[in-house]
Amino acid sequence: MSNADDTGGTRRDFLYYATAGAGVVTGGAAVWPLVNQMNPSADVQAASKLRVDVSAVEPGTQLTVLFLGKPVFIRRRTEDEITEARETALGDLVDNHARNANLADTADGADENRALDETGEWLVMQGVCTHLGCVPLGDGAGDFGGWFCPCHGSHYDTSGRIRKGPAPKNLPIPAVQFVDDSTILLG
Ligand code: FES
Repeated sequence: MSNADDTGGTRRDFLYYATAGAGVVTGGAAVWPLVNQMNPSADVQAASKLRVDVSAVEPGTQLTVLFLGKPVFIRRRTEDEITEARETALGDLVDNHARNANLADTADGADENRALDETGEWLVMQGVCTHLGCVPLGDGAGDFGGWFCPCHGSHYDTSGRIRKGPAPKNLPIPAVQFVDDSTILLG
């Protein structure tokens, strides 16, 4: 089901975002100035919601979209990534807060409070380092198999939680929900 009113755009727009986002992931922080020039126009940025078709995202891969001018990582995690995230003791976390816009501020940093679905297969979060705002590298980067920000060396785990380096907070989870089996709604 398509609903252009919600997205402020069309499926073609989404494909554009996905293409731009792939550049963010591949090149990391260094390509951000280039990607930044490719940001959507002001009217598109003003759209407060974005529907994303995730049917082609395979386990162990990640789709990046631009939403409200910022990259959002949509990762379909492997069983190993989920297990690692869920077996991490809360006492080992630098930031024991969910940082999840869909939950109360008091929610702790357990992976169950960050994943989009109960099985933990889907993790959706802003791809903006909480130190000074670079775009972290993904696909198992860093010492904790999640994301790594090369700007000053911040390591995030498979739940996007900060584990080492100068970043003070976990990568934030935006308002997000599944609207059908293969469509995620941001905003
Ligand atoms: S901006 Fe990511 S570590 Fe400094």
